[in-house]
Amino acid sequence: MAHEVRAVVVREKDAPVGVETIIVPDPGLGEALVRVQACGVCHTDLHYRQGGISDDFPFLLGHEAAGIVEAVGDGVTDVDPGDFVVLNWRAVCGRCRACRRGRPQYCFDTANATQRMTLADGTELSPALGIGAFAEKTLVAAGQCTRVDPAAGPEVAGLLGCGVMAGLGAAINTGGVTRGDSVAVIGCGGVGDAAIAGAVLAGAATVIAVDVDDRKLRWAAEFGATHTVNSRERSPVEAVRDLTGGNGADVVIDAVGRPETYRQAFYARDLAGTVVLVGVPTPDMTIDLPLLDVFGRGGALKSSWYGDCLPSRDFPMLIDLYLKGRLDLDRFVSERIALDHVEEAFTKMHRGEVLRSVVVL
Ligand SMILES: NC(=O)c1ccc[n+]([C@@H]2O[C@H](COP(=O)([O-])OP(=O)(O)OC[C@H]3O[C@@H](n4cnc5c(N)ncnc54)[C@H](O)[C@@H]3O)[C@@H](O)[C@H]2O)c1
Ligand SMILES: [Zn+2]
Ligand SMILES: [Zn+2]
Repeated sequence: MAHEVRAVVVREKDAPVGVETIIVPDPGLGEALVRVQACGVCHTDLHYRQGGISDDFPFLLGHEAAGIVEAVGDGVTDVDPGDFVVLNWRAVCGRCRACRRGRPQYCFDTANATQRMTLADGTELSPALGIGAFAEKTLVAAGQCTRVDPAAGPEVAGLLGCGVMAGLGAAINTGGVTRGDSVAVIGCGGVGDAAIAGAVLAGAATVIAVDVDDRKLRWAAEFGATHTVNSRERSPVEAVRDLTGGNGADVVIDAVGRPETYRQAFYARDLAGTVVLVGVPTPDMTIDLPLLDVFGRGGALKSSWYGDCLPSRDFPMLIDLYLKGRLDLDRFVSERIALDHVEEAFTKMHRGEVLRSVVVL
């Protein structure tokens, strides 16, 4: 039996998104059908709409979600109907080179549903990040469902499915932030603020927020930034050095992903410090740095996909910290919206008015 549900689809590059009826198949081997309860609007959804990720239109947007497993296909043992789950885009395979070396957070072959969801006329949809959760129901690989404590509401739990996990993990997993560190975060949207929250959780002593928007800087301070720098008003490299005894920060996180912010991150770090790129650049962007500076400054230049997270390890742990009051996930939810307000949410994101608009179904 197939399911007819309402979902947010973008048919071609730069077209406005619209709510359409789509067809979701019953789960087959290794698949799960999930009734979506909440899904955050991430900047990556907008990248999809702009054709920045691929040309496989039409896309079914939304990928930062939580919901209830409605049905599972053959061979599924890890989740059962009725389970409250966060959807992830790293369903590790257990067989690839990275998995076999004990580094499943770098899995090269993560699973998605094999069957395709379609438009009513049979046109196959490409679900964003293999999820497609601006929909009443979606079909995923069972490994994309991570069971968490249902005491956390779906609006907050779903945030771990992408941006908030990416930011927290960029600080804690990729950047290895630890007690006493100085950390600078460039770009304080949902991802950057999560990096700030992660740095605070890990015990950083100095956390410097950099953005071009004063409202974002005020919010960053609420997440625990000890200093804020508006990089339209002063050089962030000089500001970070001034605030760290002339040295630069131990870890600098670029949560924008543009050549100019990467260059700022590169020069705002301490000698032998770490740069973490978590913002996603577009294909036309290049960077030109003196190779002698790359060599001479030592340290590490890293990128962070999904905060190098392992959903089965990190999602339940972070939900536990949230429920104990040690990680403020509610603060990321700027507004709750209906499925047909995603286009407006993109506009608000563009204007910098929200951290996360969360679609509630
Ligand atoms: N690596 C991953 O796994 C992963 C996961 C999710 C999102 N992302 C990416 O992270 C980035 C941020 O996502 P988001 O949802 O927080 O976006 P957002 O639009 O909410 O936030 C971006 C922030 O950057 C600020 N900004 C823009 N230009 C700037 C500049 N030149 N200098 C300083 N600040 C600047 C904006 O004012 C805004 O506060 C996006 O590129 C997104 O695609 C990456
Ligand atoms: Zn693997
Ligand atoms: Zn995302």
